[in-house]
This record gives sequence, structure tokens and C-alpha cells, in this order.
Amino acid sequence: MSVKKPNVAVVGATGAVGNQMIACLEERNFPLRSLRLMASSRSAGRQLPFSKKLLTVEELTEDSFRNVDIALFSAGGGTSERFAPAAARSGCVVVDNSSAWRMDPEVPLVVPEVNPHAVAGYKTKGIIANPNCSTIQMVVALYPIQRQAGIKRIVVSTYQAVSGTGKRAIDELSSQTRAALAQSACKAEVYPHQIAFNCLPHIDAFLDNGYTKEEMKMVNETRKIMEDDSIAITATTVRVPVFFSHSESINIETRQYLSAGDARVLLEKAPGVKLVDEPQENRYPLALDAGGQDMTLVGRIRQDESIANGINMWVVADNIRKGAATNTVQIAELLVKKYL
Ligand code: A2P
Repeated sequence: MSVKKPNVAVVGATGAVGNQMIACLEERNFPLRSLRLMASSRSAGRQLPFSKKLLTVEELTEDSFRNVDIALFSAGGGTSERFAPAAARSGCVVVDNSSAWRMDPEVPLVVPEVNPHAVAGYKTKGIIANPNCSTIQMVVALYPIQRQAGIKRIVVSTYQAVSGTGKRAIDELSSQTRAALAQSACKAEVYPHQIAFNCLPHIDAFLDNGYTKEEMKMVNETRKIMEDDSIAITATTVRVPVFFSHSESINIETRQYLSAGDARVLLEKAPGVKLVDEPQENRYPLALDAGGQDMTLVGRIRQDESIANGINMWVVADNIRKGAATNTVQIAELLVKKYL
């Protein structure tokens, strides 16, 4: 197949990530022949803007993928499980933002700054998985260090924005904030507790080992993307009352000694990374600064003085862009450039 200008579909086009995928395709001047937008029957007929035109949203069905070359999915795991194989059978390559296929050994899990070569594995199932948002920004920041010094252990705590849960959660934080400030009752429908003015150490379901699924995604996906199962990883993921951008406190133990200064030099030239590390000037990565752009901001880089080879850092990225839509579109760009 030689497709330099593919027919592309966005599945979940009406959602927070789907909307951003459409914007990314336009911003990055993706070489499109045509774009189709799909969502549930609830949204069929809605019109969404793309490139100064209005495109009509279609209901997703198993027959939707005839003549589609690449489908970007962000409509939840159940929808991906059901429709991605149908899309692949029609000869379309799926780039899927849900967790449904990420740990399938026959599905590549790709962050273009880390393992672009893995895209080649799409041929087996016709599916490429986009990693979890918190994992993407962590591996973008850590991969240069892994290559230079090797990473033995990672301890990460996250401060995750509500947009990662989707549009309903964005609305819930807005309405609860207004209600709390007016001293009226806050209705919690999306999360089990009020999120406004609160922090919830609970993202996705709890597992038998006491961790949440989100925490185990960070463990397993990081190893798969870095292609190193020997890295010890432990994570605590926390939902915070922020609309956009996830922040992460990351502590690593390297195999070989690397000073904080060496890490700073490495990260200054790392792809996809913007170093923001002048604490004396009050300059460090902030969620409000990371929002609306695609770089992973890294700062507060310092020696962990409690062990021989330890480094601490603070890593922030827009979870809807680099953590989801942009990374998915970057994978599609690699497909078009190198594989289709
Ligand atoms: P819809 O708006 O028609 O419900 P978010 O994560 O922001 O809530 O967005 C989820 C996206 O996934 C929306 O575009 C939603 O469409 C879409 N979606 C959810 N369930 C289905 C389904 N069964 N078939 C197709 N699209 C779906």
C-alpha cells in the first residue's frame, strides 16, 4: 500500500481528546486526503469545524471504515475493543488512545521520542496503542537518562487534571467550584467524592494488590515503551482540581552515577522536552504554562541526597495534547512518512 495522503477518521470526535485530535491534524498540517468524524448515535448529525469547514459527525458502526486508511480512536476501551478489529479488517490502521490494546504483545505502544521503531509492529494486528497520558510525559523526560546512565528504579507521584476523565469531569469541576464558593451542596457524579478543593488518591479502579489500574499502567507501560522489564517502578496517582495538564514528582535511581547538572544538560537537548529550571527566579514547570502546547516541561532537577545515584525532578505536560491527541497524531505521521 502506498498512501501518502490518507483518508483519516477520528472516532470519538465529540470528546475532549477527539476534539483536540481534530485541532492537531489541522495545526500540524497533517497530509490528509479526507477527514471523517465519528461518535455515538447521540452525536450523529452534529457539525464540528475543521480547516474553515464544518464536518458532520457520523454514527460509528462496523461498516464505517471502508476507504479509511488511518483511524484515530478516543472513544473509551469498550468502543475500541469492539470496533478496532473491525476497522483493521477493513485494511485501516488504528491508532488507539484507550487502554484496551496497550499491553497486547502483538500491539506496539509508541511514544515517538522514545521508540518510533516500534511502529513497524502495526502489521500484525493493524493496531498501534497510544500510552496512558501520565506515562507519556514521564518517558519523554526519562528516556534520555535511561540511555545515558540506565534507570534502576522510579518512584512517581502524579497530580492529574480532571480533563483526563473527559468532558463530564471538566463540567463537574466547574459546577462544584461554583457551588462550593456559593456555599451550596456539591454534587459528585463523575468521581466518588467532591473534586473541587480536594485531592483524590484514586484514579481508575482499585486492583487486588492495593494499587489502582492507573498506577499499574504507569509501571507496565513504561517498561514496554522503554523495552526494559528490569526497571523497578512504583506509582501513586492523584486527581487534583486542575482542568488541564498533569504534574509529576519523579524520583529515579540510576545504574551509573549522573549528576543533576549532567541530567540538566541531557534534558536541555532532549526531543519534546523544554527545560524550565531556574528556581531562584521562581521558574519551574507549571500546569498553566504547559497547557495548550506540546512540550513536556521539566524542572526542579536536583540530587536525591538520600542515596548515591538519585535524582528528583518535576515534570508537567498537557494531558490532552502530548498525553493523548498530539502523541496519537505523531504516531499517524510516522505511519504516513515511513510505513504506509
Ligand atoms: P458521544 O459524544 O456521541 O457520546 P469524553 O472522553 O470526552 O467523554 O469523550 C468520549 C467520546 O467517545 C465522545 O466522542 C463519545 O461520543 C464517544 N463515544 C462514547 N461511546 C461511544 C460509542 N459506543 N460509539 C461511538 N462513540 C462513542
